[in-house]
Amino acid sequence: MKNELTNDILKVLYTEDEIHQRVQELGAAIAEEFAGRRPLFVGILKGSVIFLADLIRACPLLCDLEMMAVSSYGNATASSGRVRINFDLQQDVRGRDLIIVEDILDSGNTLSFLKDYLNAKGAASITIVTLLDKPSGRQKAVTADYIGFTVPDAFVVGYGLDYAQLYRNLPCIGVLKPEVYQKT
Ligand code: PRP
Repeated sequence: MKNELTNDILKVLYTEDEIHQRVQELGAAIAEEFAGRRPLFVGILKGSVIFLADLIRACPLLCDLEMMAVSSYGNATASSGRVRINFDLQQDVRGRDLIIVEDILDSGNTLSFLKDYLNAKGAASITIVTLLDKPSGRQKAVTADYIGFTVPDAFVVGYGLDYAQLYRNLPCIGVLKPEVYQKT
């Protein structure tokens, strides 16, 4: 369907149906691993919100939910590796099984920081779930335990992922037309 959101998409990488199917599979696998353990999901704002909302509903578990907001700072054009917490946990996570939920693992700076931070808070275990993994961007040696899709080195948006805060509400995941980000 053509609209002001889809007009800027060069090609669709994953349709709404394909994402739904994969999220159901991830949810079932996580539910099997954590059955009876009451894990605490930690969603990383803002990109993960749509994935998180679907994922936890695909996990028939007793579980808790927390959110964190973090951002990289320093050099604006390349990830500096330094991460700042803009919104922190609201409860003690000591001794808890944590499941970090991200939309994308790219350089690894964010998740490397979060793992260290949450380990220092006394988490019993940390499991990383990312909808997308972009191994070509990696600067830190971080791997995810659950990956939705491995993506090529392209500018992907939709299903929570933005460009300049837009396109998060696109139901599919697509590659942005270069002229969109070359304009700005
Ligand atoms: C994105 C994404 C991850 C991070 C991944 O967040 O949601 O948190 O970048 O990149 P990295 O592996 O290179 O650290 P972003 O800072 O764009 O904020 P957002 O979630 O609000 O879009």
